[in-house]
Amino acid sequence: MPPRLAILTGGGDCPGLNAVIRAAAKTAMLEQQAEIIGFEDGFAGLVENRTRWLDYLSVSGILTQGGTILGTNNRADPFRYPINGDDGAVRFEDLSDRAVENFRASKADCLIAVGGDGTLTIAHKLMQKGIPCVGVPKTIDNDLYGTDQSFGFDSAVTTATEAVDKLHTTAQAHHRVMILEVMGRNAGWIALHSGLAGGGDVILVPEIPYRIEIVANFLLTRRRAGKRFSIVVVAEGVRAADGKQVVSRRVADAAEPVRLGGIAYRLQDEIEQATGMSTRAVILGHLQRGGTPTPFDRVLASRFGHEAALLALRGQYGFMVGLQGNSIVHIPLQDVAGRQRLLSPDHELVSLARSLGTCFGDDCSRCTIARVCRATGF
Ligand code: F6P
Repeated sequence: MPPRLAILTGGGDCPGLNAVIRAAAKTAMLEQQAEIIGFEDGFAGLVENRTRWLDYLSVSGILTQGGTILGTNNRADPFRYPINGDDGAVRFEDLSDRAVENFRASKADCLIAVGGDGTLTIAHKLMQKGIPCVGVPKTIDNDLYGTDQSFGFDSAVTTATEAVDKLHTTAQAHHRVMILEVMGRNAGWIALHSGLAGGGDVILVPEIPYRIEIVANFLLTRRRAGKRFSIVVVAEGVRAADGKQVVSRRVADAAEPVRLGGIAYRLQDEIEQATGMSTRAVILGHLQRGGTPTPFDRVLASRFGHEAALLALRGQYGFMVGLQGNSIVHIPLQDVAGRQRLLSPDHELVSLARSLGTCFGDDCSRCTIARVCRATGF
């Protein structure tokens, strides 16, 4: 009997999911003539027993495709499965036993779960119920514990950087403040990297509380020093002056119901009011999750998919594959489950940005306004 591996993609999509599916399936087929079964739409397919065979042809030609050929779902937690009642209300049931039954019926040896913290936490819980799992870290947010980088992040940063570049030219033409809001949930990785790559003047991240007076003061100082436009890159998860994050919506049937977004519009009003400078806001949103993966993400996703298949074929279950330095490593799922990897305010890239005159909106004594003033002769 050839080995049989199951695979699913869970949580929000990102560029590179298909590259993982392709690499895992091809590795398993070429190494050991394995059979590959895909569960559709994340854990929804496992609970509802919706499967699809993946043969060699079906995983060919998908390396560069965004999205996921298996579909995904960021609400289908088998341990708290949303059921829509006739009255429109949502109730939750523990359908994890059904998920286990369906997995056993599939006769797969192992489930490769490709996803973010939610998916990997569920995979860890399913392991405890007897489903052998291997995890692959996916998210544009780059906030997964145990890996220096998740695939999808580089593609999102590339899209965000292109947006910063485009905003630069219109900001310059109109002598405006342009604000770009990027995703990232509670982590500022996308804002920091795209802000650095695009030369953002102000970068606001959730890990560094900002004060609007400091941001306004910095923008005014730049203008007085002859810089008639400024670019602000803000992470959706930053905390406003009242200490609260700006919530765009609540998704009742999701395991994590809060959807962040909208801080850019609040900042737009506050900056215009405080500085009198014409200010415009752009929310980049799901563009960051779409499109073809960058070459870096194609390679990383292929490395992850390949390694996950090897672990599964060897019977080394209960691990997530990850990147540490330039090496592919294995981290126990139990160490990853429920943990976030946030940006340290002392991170080398934060220090670099500060050294280049970037304002993070925090305490003036750490802010570079004074040095910017001296350097520009103001
Ligand atoms: O975790 C990925 C992510 O894109 C976050 O950056 C964002 O906050 C969230 O998902 C958006 O979720 P949804 O697709 O449900 O709106």
